[in-house]
Amino acid sequence: MTPSPIRVCITLGTRPEAIKLAPVIQQFQKTPGFQTQVVLTGQHREMVDQVMQLFDIKADRDLNIMQPKQTLSDITCRSLQGLQTLFIELQPHIVLVQGDTTTAFAAALAAFYQKIPVGHVEAGLRTDNILNPFPEEANRRLVSQITTLHFPPTDKSVANLAASGVCGTVLKTGNTVIDALQTVASKTPACNVPGLDWSSHRVILSTVHRRENWGEPLQNIAQGFLQILDKFEDVALLLPLHRNPTVREPLKAALESHPRTFLVEPLNYGQLVGAMQRCYLLLTDSGGLQEEAPGLGKPVLVLRETTERPEATEAGTAKLVGTDPALITAEATKLLSDPVAYEAMARAINPFGDGQASARIVKAVQDYFCQ
Ligand code: UD1
Repeated sequence: MTPSPIRVCITLGTRPEAIKLAPVIQQFQKTPGFQTQVVLTGQHREMVDQVMQLFDIKADRDLNIMQPKQTLSDITCRSLQGLQTLFIELQPHIVLVQGDTTTAFAAALAAFYQKIPVGHVEAGLRTDNILNPFPEEANRRLVSQITTLHFPPTDKSVANLAASGVCGTVLKTGNTVIDALQTVASKTPACNVPGLDWSSHRVILSTVHRRENWGEPLQNIAQGFLQILDKFEDVALLLPLHRNPTVREPLKAALESHPRTFLVEPLNYGQLVGAMQRCYLLLTDSGGLQEEAPGLGKPVLVLRETTERPEATEAGTAKLVGTDPALITAEATKLLSDPVAYEAMARAINPFGDGQASARIVKAVQDYFCQ
């Protein structure tokens, strides 16, 4: 008699979770002995659907919770309630969550309430400032306390978990984003933006979405961009806008009329990787881009006061610049006018992973059930 498969339920809600879990889902699907169940909360819609298509992954269930201007409580309540019903129906042996979104927190809690073990992908990131990033620092700490299998990407995240006094097993895996990046970057995907000539411009690629940057910081960031564009006539700004109206409307109002700004809809992951490969430098508040750009040898100026990814700042390929327009302009000016400063930051390093994180995660889950 063949033993019954281990049911692994992989839950995700936002684009970064989809990118970082896609290689994990694929690895489980091709490993005998597992039944893989993919569950979307629907915290994000279009931005997740793009990633699912790119990696050719189908969801088994979709709670479809997204609403315009949803609050954190909306996302938490709707996910928690919906996942309770789904976990009763699907009876997973283990639930995997990723990172620090509200989906990850709600899914871990829903599993914990049913005494289903939780596996946490990208565990142990910390800024030690509970309000920054908000609410992600709290989400990831809360998930850590109810997780059975922790999959931290780096030595620092392993140490952070020890400092948090977590229960369960801790296994350093590397970050699955590098698995996803390597697969997509090897195909050197195109990034065609109408009107943007990559060969005649040095392109700054930027993304901004974090809650801490809503309001005045966002205005300041836009002012910084305009100052840089005024100083350097060969520079263009490519800014894929987040779908969130709270972020996109003020950025559009401040930047849209400049002839060298290219404000576009969210790029799919392939196009985004293509843009990273071709751009001159990145200005971003995204966590994923801080992990990916160093691997592609592109300097990153981080539009935040803190980072939970010090590996790149310590290696000198990323730098925290915050949201002061004068500082953003000064740091970008250095990189745009001083080749030595640019070369010092543009070294290709991969402190976050080696592309094998998903295989380690699958092996760890196998070992957990076969001990
Ligand atoms: C969420 C995560 C953040 C992650 C980010 C990636 C939390 C608390 N935050 O923040 O950690 O870095 O996703 O993007 O979980 N929207 C759409 N279509 C989409 C996606 C979003 O219309 O495909 C709009 C909706 O109006 C939604 C709003 O964007 O209300 C905000 O989305 P939400 O998930 O609440 O927060 P994010 O800022 O995206």
